[in-house]
Amino acid sequence: MNIVKLHATTSTNDELKSRFRESVLPHLTAIYSLKQTRGKGQQGAQWVTEDGKNLTFSVLITEGVSDLTPFLINQVVSVSIVEWLKNDLQIQSKIKWPNDILSVNHKLAGILIENSYSGNFLSSSVVGIGLNVNQVEFEGLPKAISLKNITGKEFELEVLLISFLNVLKNNLRDPLKVAQDYNKYLFKYRQVISFESSNAVFNGRVEGTDKDGKLILRVDNELKIYDLKELKWM
Ligand code: BTN
Repeated sequence: MNIVKLHATTSTNDELKSRFRESVLPHLTAIYSLKQTRGKGQQGAQWVTEDGKNLTFSVLITEGVSDLTPFLINQVVSVSIVEWLKNDLQIQSKIKWPNDILSVNHKLAGILIENSYSGNFLSSSVVGIGLNVNQVEFEGLPKAISLKNITGKEFELEVLLISFLNVLKNNLRDPLKVAQDYNKYLFKYRQVISFESSNAVFNGRVEGTDKDGKLILRVDNELKIYDLKELKWM
């Protein structure tokens, strides 16, 4: 494993992508930074956290990546976070489709994956993860939570990173098997809850995801498939 620590960068995803454009980097190279000046969240949002307190890192996946799909990578990463939290830190969490990890119904981590292609196949993937670790107050983010909020303990960022990377490395050896556990950890799996789509609120039962990562809901006894842009959790 090749781990790079930075004191500051714009975004660890951008930093890793730019370093990889300039030179060959080993599979599972990880960059973490104590500060991001332009941390990126999902759908063009910003990812803002208190400097030095949290894990903001990106991991490069190259080996075997041409056999994977973007959603398979998302599944392996999501399941790896949940299993790592459970087995190494005794913290229960769920995957809130498509990119959030929740614990006690609050957001503990977010995932932003940026893929590169060679023709129709993936050639590399930069997996960015923001994990709330030692920050205890989240002004303006009432739905956020950290490991310290949950356990009362402080954590060493690099120790956490190394133990997570070991789980990810292992899970990448058999992505299809790991992905089978995705539904088990899916937030609200087989439960009926409210969603919003096209300005209408409706109830749907979460039935899982299709191979492209769209969410399958049972609505009025019919299976319907939604992508992220068409659906909002209530
Ligand atoms: C989200 O939930 O919106 C996804 C957040 C992803 C944030 C991480 S922090 C490390 C990496 N670098 C970035 O700029 N973003 C990701």
